[in-house]
Amino acid sequence: MGVVSVKTFGLLCLALATTSTSTAQAATFEVPAKVGAPGYKYAPLDPAPVGLSFEFFAFPSYFTNVTATKQCLANWKSLTGVWPPIRIGGTTQDRAQYDASTSAYVVYSVHNAADAPMTLTFGSKFMTLAGTYEGSVVVGLNRGKNKIENTIAAAKVAVAEVKNLLAIELGNEPEYYPKDGQPIAAGTWNPSVDVASQNSWMIRVGSAIGRKNIIQAGNWNAAAPTWGAANLVAAENATVRQYVRHYAHHNYPGGTIQSLMTHPTTVKNVRTQFEADVAAVLRTGREYVLGETNSVSGGGAAGVSPTFGAALWTMDYALRAAYTNISRIYFHHGTVGNCQYCFFGRYSMGAPYYGAHAAVAFLAGGSHVTALDDPGTTNYAAYVVFDSQGQPLRVLLYNSDYFAGGGGTTRTSQSFTLTGLPRSGSIVRAKRLTAASASSRVDQGSSPTFGGQTFADGTCVVQGTETFESTAVSSNGQATFTLKATEVLIVYLQ
Ligand SMILES: *[C@@H]1O[C@H](CO)[C@@H](O)[C@H](O)[C@H]1NC(C)=O
Ligand SMILES: *[C@@H]1O[C@H](CO)[C@@H](O)[C@H](O)[C@H]1NC(C)=O
Ligand SMILES: *[C@@H]1O[C@H](CO)[C@@H](O)[C@H](O)[C@H]1NC(C)=O
Repeated sequence: MGVVSVKTFGLLCLALATTSTSTAQAATFEVPAKVGAPGYKYAPLDPAPVGLSFEFFAFPSYFTNVTATKQCLANWKSLTGVWPPIRIGGTTQDRAQYDASTSAYVVYSVHNAADAPMTLTFGSKFMTLAGTYEGSVVVGLNRGKNKIENTIAAAKVAVAEVKNLLAIELGNEPEYYPKDGQPIAAGTWNPSVDVASQNSWMIRVGSAIGRKNIIQAGNWNAAAPTWGAANLVAAENATVRQYVRHYAHHNYPGGTIQSLMTHPTTVKNVRTQFEADVAAVLRTGREYVLGETNSVSGGGAAGVSPTFGAALWTMDYALRAAYTNISRIYFHHGTVGNCQYCFFGRYSMGAPYYGAHAAVAFLAGGSHVTALDDPGTTNYAAYVVFDSQGQPLRVLLYNSDYFAGGGGTTRTSQSFTLTGLPRSGSIVRAKRLTAASASSRVDQGSSPTFGGQTFADGTCVVQGTETFESTAVSSNGQATFTLKATEVLIVYLQ
């Protein structure tokens, strides 16, 4: 065997190839025996770290008129035992006003069904609908219009109707208020003016609804530190902070399919955007979440966001965020029928659901996660999730080499060797997430599969027979797995 076992600091080391199926060197990782074993960093996990965000005006449609919504969420509840968290908000939260007199969920008009409304009203029924959800709910309210009495009235209804209300946002991406012509930004608007505005609104809304620990603060999309939670943390006194439940940022990394799905790009994006901001927030003892995120801003890019490559980004990004101590990540869903990055729609599944589903399956029931390949500078990633006893539960391996498909190209393979495995001399099972290529799209007849299964268009019901692969673990606790370019394998250790 050409495997070199290097036990220092969990760094990826390369070893000679051990099988004839691969021309590349094996990526070798040592699996820590338990949480806290030296050489790695460990992040505690939320019971449901992967959630969905629904654009404010579109939320009633998703919940009353898109069949897949409930089932796509329920599929994750059956993996974790917990309904995934949701957030309702986005650009249209700052275009919306509460109207106590309407019996409708939302009232607006658009020239084209593909458009988002420029202005809308919503009734108390909107919050009643949000209150039917069994998982935690974040509700985004308006700050841009600078009508605080209306926002307080809406917040009171949210508190009364949304039984699983986790937090309220006061404004969405406020750095864009001047460009959007929002009245609150008339005059000077910059990070310190916004921070002062957020602080003042938190006190006024929090005290009016009689709730502390209730605001999801921040909610910028532009990069930290200019627009970042560290600024809020630095400006807050104890009066303000008692209203903050946690801090949030948005993120749309963009790029080509290849750059998006390549592991070092994702690691760099998460590290440069969030590590310092998360650290500032953790010092307050509060959580940090990605309150709204997806592959490419503005509903997604048609050539990128619906693909299997974007699905692999979804998975890797969710895991790297969890490892970076980001408690929850809410993948955004925009206008129904005009949403390239959506996980599902009325008629078709989106490939990214498969990546998110694999991340949920991997993290389910876990207490901590680590990244064996930190600092994440090669295309080959490995994560371990640990159970509540601190024992390794599953390993996820990701070969982010890009396979575009098409004629004339061969799909390479990469072998991954795991050392230090429990169950020496036994067999481990594994589930594979795969597709024909990085450009595979469900709506173009090329669905990914996860453990051989798919999700039905229109309903999100799982189809097919769940399939596990088996691999022998040697008497010294090693096993080697082969992943094609653009593929994921989840190894079940228990
Ligand atoms: C529900 O969806 C259909 C399209 O399938 C659409 O025509 C209809 O307007 C929608 N109804 C509501 C209440 O959104
Ligand atoms: C705390 O901050 C708020 C908002 O920035 C301010 O209105 C209030 O006066 C401050 N309280 C104290 C005790 O400094
Ligand atoms: C996450 O937070 C834990 C403390 O809960 C810390 O030990 C760990 O180093 C942090 N992870 C990263 C990647 O910074």
